[in-house]
Amino acid sequence: MKKILVLNGPNLNLLGTREPAQYGHETLADVERMCAEAGAALGVEVECRQSNHEGVLLDWIHEAGREVAAGRMLGVVMNPGAYTHTSIALHDAIKGASVPLIELHISNVHARESFRHHSYISPAARGIIVGLGVKGYPLAIEALVRVSS
Ligand code: DQA
Repeated sequence: MKKILVLNGPNLNLLGTREPAQYGHETLADVERMCAEAGAALGVEVECRQSNHEGVLLDWIHEAGREVAAGRMLGVVMNPGAYTHTSIALHDAIKGASVPLIELHISNVHARESFRHHSYISPAARGIIVGLGVKGYPLAIEALVRVSS
């Protein structure tokens, strides 16, 4: 069974209590449960990780690149949080490790502050899911499965 890695970046451990008007009331544990259920329904194994540290996220993308190259992983679903708008290093890691990656945002970043309108991740992403709330996570998993076959 192939694997999908779901990565959540900075502050997403606060889901449930963080700005619920933007991000809803579901916790990260709820999101991870939704992801596991989506994977089970699609016949893929889903592993979820969260970090507030850019370097840790980089290491996980490099690891995913090795797993994809070995034929054990389809790719990554990633909510890079605020690193979306700042991290050339994440852009380079996704390209450098050749990881098929779906970029995901819970909120519609284009309807928010202008500093959220630019993404360093999007040019390196296979596709993007934005503004569908936490329901975007199972959709992103399904999208990765469908574009991989
Ligand atoms: C976010 C949007 C980002 O602008 C923000 O910094 C986040 C969450 C989202 O899921 O909507 O941390 O990626």
